[in-house]
Amino acid sequence: MAQAIPFPQDRTCPYHPPTGYRPLSAEGPLNRVTLYDDTEAWLVTGHAEAQALLTDPRLSADRQNPAFPLIARRFELSRREPLALLGVDDPLHNKQRRTLIPTFGVKRVAAMRPRIQRVVDELLDALVAQGPPAELVASFALPVPSIVICELLGVPYADHDFFEEASRRILRSATAEETDAGRRELMDYLGDLVDRKTKTAGGGAGHGDLADGRAAAPAADATPEGVLDELVRDRLSDGTLDRDELVRLALILLVAGHETTANMISLGTFTLLEHPDQLRALRADPELTRDAVEELLRFLSIADGLVRVATEDIEVAGQTIRADDGVILSAAAVNRDTTVYPDADDLDVRRNARHHLAFGFGIHQCLGQNLARAELEIALHSLLTRLPDLRLAVPAQEIRMKPGDTIQGLIELPVTWGRG
Ligand code: HEM
Repeated sequence: MAQAIPFPQDRTCPYHPPTGYRPLSAEGPLNRVTLYDDTEAWLVTGHAEAQALLTDPRLSADRQNPAFPLIARRFELSRREPLALLGVDDPLHNKQRRTLIPTFGVKRVAAMRPRIQRVVDELLDALVAQGPPAELVASFALPVPSIVICELLGVPYADHDFFEEASRRILRSATAEETDAGRRELMDYLGDLVDRKTKTAGGGAGHGDLADGRAAAPAADATPEGVLDELVRDRLSDGTLDRDELVRLALILLVAGHETTANMISLGTFTLLEHPDQLRALRADPELTRDAVEELLRFLSIADGLVRVATEDIEVAGQTIRADDGVILSAAAVNRDTTVYPDADDLDVRRNARHHLAFGFGIHQCLGQNLARAELEIALHSLLTRLPDLRLAVPAQEIRMKPGDTIQGLIELPVTWGRG
């Protein structure tokens, strides 16, 4: 087997996997990589092998396991604190996930579509009123999912500067101390929010109290009502979740709920602008939006590197993954597997890209995927319709990207339209 190459690496082009990963796929579906601290791990690049491993209970997502591989220095303090859902194995994982499945199911998300459309339209109205040029991450890509997840959870959007910055520290700090400080600030904030919701729910004068047929006046410290209120009322009170667990669930939902989709909106827009033939095809036939979103999810694979640790020996593709070995599944490489996607390096909005691993696979497959799809379809379609001559305001090479060790996306996206 060839010498281990470093993982992760920065992308050289915002929409292609790092060029340094090219030798990997040629070596077969399982490769050795070196992490920042010189430890080695397996990197899985084959589609079939990744699906098999992500459904194999001998791979654990438990970040508190001392053998769990760390892909960046900032995770060095992450073993101290449990991470809800994404960092736990069954049966605890199953219990936590079951409490949230109705919230993120197809039906509830379908009912949210008109509200998502209004959020998108209002942001586009503001963009048009202000006129070109604009920075699309701050004015559109980030606020769409941020407002939606706030309304869904019952978190005040007025606090978005605070939680967006805390999320940035969690996902992109250089040091473990800063990452941990971001996590603690967000835990304190959400703990306080959950306590206020508990007080309101328990006080009998809160939202949803229809004792005399009319909604009672909300308590002075009431917060917007949402899923966190439902969890407080139904799951805290019956003991399914304790306060700490509920706060940890709120944290992952809030962070995962806005960062990822924001990156997909900005990087997806940039990628379409850089592929004018595909953009033309999509504009000519808006019915393609759904397929285009799937293809962009596959092509961009913004959440690369799904990390696990083996708890037993596992035979895969003629290799033995030993107990305590770190295993990283590269969504970006798997989604470019040419045995599944012919011409995988081409963006093709007409492609049937289903079965991509951009949302993962197996028990941890993205809980918010229905919501993310709805947001992406509405945001991209409305943006391209309202601003038919949208274009970059700076040369493509000047667009700054996020580093390779976090969720992929653009730091800024300067755009213009009309005569701007
Ligand atoms: C386009 C946007 C999104 C992408 C690309 C994405 C990607 C992913 C991926 C790859 C995983 C699996 C990670 C692993 O197995 O290690 C995941 C899990 C998860 N995602 Fe998303 N996600 C997106 C949007 C969202 C949204 C909007 C939410 C809403 C709250 C969300 C919540 C979650 C949660 C809670 C998990 C953990 C599920 C579990 O462990 O059972 N995601 N996501």
